[in-house]
Amino acid sequence: MIEKLIEQAKKASLNAYAPYSGFKVGAALLTKSGKIFTGCNVENSSYGLTNCAERTAIFKAVSEGEKEFEHLVIYVDSPKLFTPCGACRQVISEFSQELPVTIISQNENLETDMGKLLPYTFKL
Ligand code: THU
Repeated sequence: MIEKLIEQAKKASLNAYAPYSGFKVGAALLTKSGKIFTGCNVENSSYGLTNCAERTAIFKAVSEGEKEFEHLVIYVDSPKLFTPCGACRQVISEFSQELPVTIISQNENLETDMGKLLPYTFKL
C-alpha cells in the first residue's frame, strides 16, 4: 500500500499548478475505509490564496464524507526534503492528531506522524 501511495502522490504532483514558485507538491491520503484521495498545490496570482497539496487532499476527502485517515504520503519534487507548512499541520490535525506521515523528496525520505509535526495541537 505504501508503494501505491507514493506512486499516487508523485502522480498528483504532476498536476500541481505552481507557475509562481515552480515548487510542485503531491499528496496521497489513505482513509480508514481504504480509499485514496490525492491533492496538489494550486497557486494563485494573489499569493496568499494558494492551497497546499496536503490541504487539497484533506478537503477532497472530507467533502466526499471521509474523515478518518490511516496514512498521508507527501511528495515534494525537489532534491531537498520539506515538511508541511503550519497551516497544513493544523488542518490535518483537526481530523487526525497521530496520523502517520511519509514525506518523500527526490533524494530523501522521512517517516513521521502528526504528533511529532504538531504537538499540543489546538483542537476544540
Ligand atoms: N506547498 C505545499 O503544497 N505543501 C507544503 O507543505 C508547503 C508548500 C506549496 C505551496 C506553494 O504552492 C509552494 O509549495 C511553495 O510554497
